[in-house]
Amino acid sequence: MDEQTQPRSLDPADWQSIRLQGHRMLDDMLDYLEHIRARPVWQPIPEGVRAGFDAALPTAATELAAVHADFMRDILPFATGNAHPGFMGWVHGGGNVAGMLAEMLAAGLNANLGGRDHAPIEVERQIVRWAAQLFGFPATASGLFVTGTSMANMLGVLVARADAFGLGVRRKGVAAYKKRLTAYGSSAAHGCIAQAMDLCGIGSEALRLIPTDDHHRIDPVALTVAIAADRAAGLTPFLVVGTAGTVDIGAIDDLAGLADIAQREALWFHVDGAFGALAILAPDLAPRLAGIERADSIALDFHKWAQVPYDAGFILVRDGALHRSAFATQAAYLRRETRGLAAGSPWPCDFGPDLSRGFRALKTWFTLRVYGTEALGAVIAHTCALARHLERRILATPQLELLAPVQLNIVCFGYRGDDPDALNARIVADLQESGIAAPSTTMIGNRLAIRAAIVNHRTEQRDVDALLDAVMVFGAAGAASRAA
Ligand SMILES: Cc1ncc(COP(=O)(O)O)c(C=O)c1O
Repeated sequence: MDEQTQPRSLDPADWQSIRLQGHRMLDDMLDYLEHIRARPVWQPIPEGVRAGFDAALPTAATELAAVHADFMRDILPFATGNAHPGFMGWVHGGGNVAGMLAEMLAAGLNANLGGRDHAPIEVERQIVRWAAQLFGFPATASGLFVTGTSMANMLGVLVARADAFGLGVRRKGVAAYKKRLTAYGSSAAHGCIAQAMDLCGIGSEALRLIPTDDHHRIDPVALTVAIAADRAAGLTPFLVVGTAGTVDIGAIDDLAGLADIAQREALWFHVDGAFGALAILAPDLAPRLAGIERADSIALDFHKWAQVPYDAGFILVRDGALHRSAFATQAAYLRRETRGLAAGSPWPCDFGPDLSRGFRALKTWFTLRVYGTEALGAVIAHTCALARHLERRILATPQLELLAPVQLNIVCFGYRGDDPDALNARIVADLQESGIAAPSTTMIGNRLAIRAAIVNHRTEQRDVDALLDAVMVFGAAGAASRAA
């Protein structure tokens, strides 16, 4: 053998020592999760640590144990902190141990779920069937794992676009059509809907942002008026987006009312249920989603309320045949067969733009099977109960004001004072840097709010109390320093 044909496998020369090292890595992550309460929720990255990421591209080998030690020292302590029970910022799920272990299995298998005939794809198909069952969709519905709801919403808009123009739009592009499409969502809809319109070539301005009522739900009368005005102007309404759980305050649009309007107006009805759709798992909350079963497509994230480790976005489409024809392409190198590894068509790559796809389904499958939907539903209900506890404490505290009605698991509030926006932004930064709790902020009307989105299954009443107690301390200090 000459030098070039020497074995070059990256597998370890000594499997026994790698096994020990692997067990140490596993133990470290289990220790991290078991003792996470003892850590700060978040801490800023020290400048020296940040500078370490400027190191040159490694040309030579480093021991796995040494790289692991770097991870433990420089990465793990400075993560976002969303596994921590005190994390209440944005809408982040907490992850779970079974899902974490499943990620290791998936990485070991290194499956590519773009296509071909193998059991990992059957796992994803089973989750598609489970999702269809959960949302009352027919057995002919289709579904696909994607990164997150931003991507799932874009796929929903693309299928709706194919429905509106016909499949020719895939070849000709929107510019070939005289029809000018318009879509409708509420002013509380997530920004990724407008971005999806942009990315699909229809343009973000073609998304009409309809006003909401005082509970941040789309106003159906204003919606009907906007559709009529666009039709009168010669435009072609094609899509209405309902939100199940708005990002700011967790409002749920009247989905049954939207389904009626979509049916009457012959529009595609898409539901952005990024976190809220999975309220379907909580028996007390599920009735609030009435009408979701009439959607043409639903976007959701298993990585939020279902606690699956990042990332596990998902799209469900009622008309599986249309979904497939909106994305499927033909290529000699992706030829399908009736036997052998190239059997099993259609493949997941026929339902979206990704050809290389990881095994997101496995961590979701483990999470659903290991905990069961009843326990996951109970977690969801519990986070809403904690939000109501926080709301009660805010209402009982004269220095605080509730800035939006609490509808699910999100509480928006503020500390009263002169220049309250500056004060509350400072309180949130102080809280995050203290390591006690990590809420985020949003704007409610023209007011900056402290926003606590309680998503994590580890969060308990004591964590919500710790958040509020710390708000009182930082709020009083902030108000005093302004007065001084
Ligand atoms: C209502 C809503 N839609 C869309 C998104 C975007 O989802 P993702 O971050 O998974 O892309 C979010 C994120 O929080 C959301 O709350």
